Amino acid sequence: MIMYHSTRGGSPPVPFDQAVLQGFAGDGGLFVPHPVPQLSRAQLEQWKSLDYVALAREVMSCYIDPEIVPKRDLERLLAASLAPFEQADPPLVSPGQDGRQWIMELFHGPTLSFKDVAMGFLIELMDYFLEKLDDRLSLILATTGDTGPAAAYAVAGKKRICCWPLYPAGMISREQELQMTTIGAGNVCPVEVQDCRNGGDDLDVVVARLFGNEQLKKRLKLSSVNSINIGRVLMQTVHYFYAYFRTVERLGDPLVFSIPAGAFGNLCGGELARLMGLPIEFICATNKNGTQHRIFADGIFEKSPLQQSLSSAIDIVIPYNFWRFLYFRCSGDTALVNKAVTEFEHFGTVQFDDILHSKLRQGVVSTSISDEQTLESIANIFEQTGYLLDPHGAVAVAGAEQCRPGFAEHTPCVSVATAHPAKFPRVIKKALPTGRSLPESAFHHSIEEAKKADTKVLICTYDELELLLVEKIDASLKHLSPGL
Ligand SMILES: Cc1ncc(COP(=O)(O)O)c(C=O)c1O
Repeated sequence: MIMYHSTRGGSPPVPFDQAVLQGFAGDGGLFVPHPVPQLSRAQLEQWKSLDYVALAREVMSCYIDPEIVPKRDLERLLAASLAPFEQADPPLVSPGQDGRQWIMELFHGPTLSFKDVAMGFLIELMDYFLEKLDDRLSLILATTGDTGPAAAYAVAGKKRICCWPLYPAGMISREQELQMTTIGAGNVCPVEVQDCRNGGDDLDVVVARLFGNEQLKKRLKLSSVNSINIGRVLMQTVHYFYAYFRTVERLGDPLVFSIPAGAFGNLCGGELARLMGLPIEFICATNKNGTQHRIFADGIFEKSPLQQSLSSAIDIVIPYNFWRFLYFRCSGDTALVNKAVTEFEHFGTVQFDDILHSKLRQGVVSTSISDEQTLESIANIFEQTGYLLDPHGAVAVAGAEQCRPGFAEHTPCVSVATAHPAKFPRVIKKALPTGRSLPESAFHHSIEEAKKADTKVLICTYDELELLLVEKIDASLKHLSPGL
């Protein structure tokens, strides 16, 4: 049976359901599957023509024991989570038509970002486990703009779960904000937080503090659905398999993914797919904040002051999933991970030695894309092909162009388009020639509808946040699912 271990090695392994419900491990580490399932070539052959839903069932069956979620229930939960998608199979497009540069569109879910892909499934799973336990949960999550809407949509109407998406005022797009504030469900309470100098990272500090108080965590029934939750990361392995089977000529051929990296959840999904046996490599594309880039380029993990960028959803200076990535790259050496975490917590920086640095960068090239390059990428692709990227997809495509020389000449590359351009009309306007009206592909009917809907949001300052949450969550638990 696959068990879920802490990256810090200080708490006992737990089965999948507990890992999902707890979020963080007891010692503050992140859960990782052990052992990572290994796929045979025959298995990959069998999987290669499956559609996305069938592939998701196969991949997730490798991680979820049938005693915990029987196969029939797993299929039902997957189907329910993917039902609101415009299309479950993520489109792979090649605007230049050269068959080597691909874009994988992961934004056809209900809130138009790749977060929908895993969030819906995670919430279905949580609800399933809670029903069995006859229990309930309060989800607090800090968002840089896309996790919040995805969670709000997935949780809306669930009787056993309440959700508190926290977002930094003025640091997400108006469209992302509307996706949360117009959800119109009693069990979803978005909170706009003022004075966050470090954006979403500031909010993560409050969340971590609440989670660090065991008594409070128990009383408020706290859990999280940020990508610290292993359920999200596992589900994010599926699209790597899907894209691989659709773009390589022969099984065993190499493939590169260019990923717009924030907290590293998506990259960790790719890393797990690689560990399972896919011959894939990565371009880690970040914006001007660049913490993630410096890990691979210089072997340093260092917190630097946040700079607001045009690709705001990846304005992250502490990519917290990095500890998972480190765990995988050092072959599960929890003492090493623990030492690095402790050092980072004390000094805000960790310098890796040459051996570890070379393990971290094996099959990974990284880059930091400026706002000007992001705008250029949107403008050039649109001008040349009529295809419209959002700023995060543009970071991935610009990263792919810049880093491709680091890979074998004919290796195809899939840039991961993580959000729909309709979520960022102001950036798109800036990128396209002045005076040009926005193309049809810059709009989405769901956003237009949200602009007309009523909004509901709590507003507080950063200093008030912790107390406000405790008070409101205490009160909300009294109203959740009668009889619990
Ligand atoms: C549109 C978009 N792209 C990329 C990312 C980065 O993903 P991750 O945090 O998994 O690295 C995010 C989320 O933070 C996002 O919302």
